[in-house]
Amino acid sequence: ALLKGHTASFGKFISEVKPQHLSSVVLHRSKRMVLDSIGVGVIGSTTDVFELALQHCQHMYAPDDISSVYGRRGTRLSPTLAAFVNGVATHSMDFDDTWHPATHPSGAVLPAVLALSDMMSANSKPSGLDFLLAFNIGVEIQGRLMRFSNEANNIPKRFHPPSVVGTMGSAAACARLLSLDPSQCSHALAIATSLSGAPMANAATQSKPLHIGNASRLGLEAALLASRGLEASSLVLDAVTGVAGFNAFYEDYVPQPLKLPNDDSHMFLLEEQDMAFKRFPAHLGMHWVADAAASVHKVLVGFGPGTVSPAQVQDILLRVPKSKYINRPFPDSEHEARHSFQFNACSALLDGEVTVQSFTPAALRRPDLLALLSRVRMEHPQDNPANFNSMYGEVQVTLVGGDILKGHCDTFYGHWRNPLTNESLRKKFRNNAGAVLPSEKVERLIDVVEELDRLGDCRALLSQLQ
Ligand SMILES: *[C@@H]1O[C@H](CO)[C@@H](O)[C@H](O)[C@H]1NC(C)=O
Ligand SMILES: *[C@@H]1O[C@H](CO)[C@@H](O)[C@H](O)[C@H]1NC(C)=O
Repeated sequence: ALLKGHTASFGKFISEVKPQHLSSVVLHRSKRMVLDSIGVGVIGSTTDVFELALQHCQHMYAPDDISSVYGRRGTRLSPTLAAFVNGVATHSMDFDDTWHPATHPSGAVLPAVLALSDMMSANSKPSGLDFLLAFNIGVEIQGRLMRFSNEANNIPKRFHPPSVVGTMGSAAACARLLSLDPSQCSHALAIATSLSGAPMANAATQSKPLHIGNASRLGLEAALLASRGLEASSLVLDAVTGVAGFNAFYEDYVPQPLKLPNDDSHMFLLEEQDMAFKRFPAHLGMHWVADAAASVHKVLVGFGPGTVSPAQVQDILLRVPKSKYINRPFPDSEHEARHSFQFNACSALLDGEVTVQSFTPAALRRPDLLALLSRVRMEHPQDNPANFNSMYGEVQVTLVGGDILKGHCDTFYGHWRNPLTNESLRKKFRNNAGAVLPSEKVERLIDVVEELDRLGDCRALLSQLQ
């Protein structure tokens, strides 16, 4: 087939980019993503939504159950269903990484790359570097596609980005791992486009984690179909007048060709745009108000009895971006709480921090927390856009008696401008993976991911996850 146009340039990139194109910065950053994503997925295997998704997949039992499942020693599923449940686990607590423009890149890609690697025969397992290259291609494709639309810069309103670009990233990563040729790689993307898209209305419900599970699974499925010779539109990423392709998801879509790296340009976007890693399991936007509220907490306990009591507080004003799906005055489920400015600000005001435990049913019902929630007001200043690169969080507490305390956060710890130290990232991993796995395994995983680009065979990683 004649290869031209933007879609074809993407196919050529996926098929032909080389491990040497991964700089040491990109290798390092992507290994941090791999480690964090595994930890978040392993602790996610303790959630109700993961349990339901796993039961659903075990019910659809297939004889070729060869891919492992996070946190369930000995359980095997078919590769596409393993990619699905591990993707669900990764996003089950909304604890997974976030990029700019906004999406959660690892959860859609890593489970698919792991499941596909499990599926490959012993003598054709990818090396650690090939594994990381496929993962990086899956991340890169997501970043490139989001740069074709200004709309994609902002916190989304219509489609949940992982269900759109995530599916494409998974397809790209899997197409590469399967060594598909350029034309098959672009067909994999075109097939994946037909399997993409989930509405924002399901954010803050148990169905949001399914978006990432399905992105991972359907991208893998698209690549497997392309490897069998299935074809789709060769212009799906091109903006063809009158026929919607990928531009169905973005109203202001303007594509560019994707060029192969050359020696003097930094090719992978991960080099110029680092990742945000969450410190607690909630929507990224919550991290700004939580840090602002935690600083008010510190002052309050400083001149009080050592605890914060609602009786001290007359009024709480939050200055946050306008984004409807994370404005929830009285969340009544764990998932709503993870998407509520009010809940996260009040939890941090009361406790000085937000943690995994902040979202248990008992924590959600605490009378002190509910009392604080009833005093919250919100403002959406003009200079505070719904954009993870430029938003801020401000918490202004008026005490009974009239004193005013203010906390402000421009860049929380964990944001790409203020990245977690390696030690904090490992601590997060130890807490997450250690909630489920024995400590020898947790430590071994840290070492294996650290040396991943130097492993001749990725089985050393796969075997730790079985
Ligand atoms: C996943 O996506 C497929 C195809 O769009 C859809 O048929 C299926 O219902 C989805 N499953 C879940 C559990 O979201
Ligand atoms: C973590 O360690 C690497 C070397 O392994 C170093 O290059 C990097 O700057 C460290 N810190 C962060 C935040 O990545």
